[in-house]
Amino acid sequence: MSRPHDELSPDRRFEERSFELSLRPRNLDEFIGQPKLKDNLRVFLAAARQRGEPLDHLLLYGPPGLGKTTLAHIVATEMGAPIHVTSGPAIERPGDLVGILTNLDPNAVLFIDEIHRLSRPVEEILYPAMEDGKVDILIGKGPAARSIRLDVPPFTVIGATTRQGLLTGPLRDRFGIVTHFQFYGASDLFEIVRRSATILNYRIEPDGAEEIAKRSRGTPRIANRLLRRVRDFAQVAGLEAIGLAVAESSLRALEVDDLGLDRVDRTLLLAIIEKFDGGPVGLETIAAATGEDSQTVEDVYEPYLLQQGLLQRTPRGRLATPAAYRHLGKPPRPRPDSPNLFEE
Ligand SMILES: Nc1ncnc2c1ncn2[C@@H]1O[C@H](COP(=O)(O)OP(=O)(O)O)[C@@H](O)[C@H]1O
Ligand SMILES: [Mg+2]
Repeated sequence: MSRPHDELSPDRRFEERSFELSLRPRNLDEFIGQPKLKDNLRVFLAAARQRGEPLDHLLLYGPPGLGKTTLAHIVATEMGAPIHVTSGPAIERPGDLVGILTNLDPNAVLFIDEIHRLSRPVEEILYPAMEDGKVDILIGKGPAARSIRLDVPPFTVIGATTRQGLLTGPLRDRFGIVTHFQFYGASDLFEIVRRSATILNYRIEPDGAEEIAKRSRGTPRIANRLLRRVRDFAQVAGLEAIGLAVAESSLRALEVDDLGLDRVDRTLLLAIIEKFDGGPVGLETIAAATGEDSQTVEDVYEPYLLQQGLLQRTPRGRLATPAAYRHLGKPPRPRPDSPNLFEE
């Protein structure tokens, strides 16, 4: 059984990637939702174009699958600029970054995914490049070593990160524009599902699209993935269109519930409720108890559970809320600190 945001096999991942590429909006008008972010960006793009300058450095942050990579490509397109794509873990040594920077075309976009994973020595090359268009490199070894300064053509860094708190202060300060992606509402996801169905060339009824949208955890990538799986069910059943019935039955088969939670989400909440009496319990403990990676729990699963009010973060750890008990059909926990316990 495939889990909606789980590790995928290489074949699946390739299929997934090419599918995502084909569905990726190419310009701001095709980019659905996030109206505040888009409106602001339109102004900054227009202003930079009028001045004939590259856009100021742009930091995109938000949970996976909300459109950060998509938007980076759109910005480059809208600026008519070439884009160089890399990621924090891919730039291993300072020299690698120097090589990238000194080879950029003028006004290019340098997209650094997972920018919070840049090493400190690499970050230190990036600062002066972002600020003054300079890089310092060390030539030679020992006493003969000397440092020389190279010019970098004007460029725009677009950094993407799942959590802003993971960035060092000095790095964050060098971004002139910081944007925060919000989970998408049902009507935006509805549009995204309909648009993707059109590109996939499969007919979808409004109630089918609505059902998929509702269960997509506010995340376009998940909406597209669920759509593709539902299409598989519809196609094998010989249906010409995706309606409510097939959407419901396939999502049930995929173990995606009516809030969009998948098996991992429910396992996490159940562990907190059943093993730790609802919490508070630390992230590492939850991860260990469920066999998940704590980073993944924090980046991929928690944001939506928090947003849905099923989970709460407290200084002493994570807490399952009464809504989580209700959603999972568990009797509410008697609260030791609630006064009526002691009144009898
Ligand atoms: N605003 C949007 N409108 C339409 N489709 C979107 C939007 N945001 C994301 N998508 C779709 O979701 C997929 C995942 O987006 P992506 O940019 O890779 O997310 P991230 O980089 O934040 O993890 C994209 O392939 C695209 O098809
Ligand atoms: Mg991405």
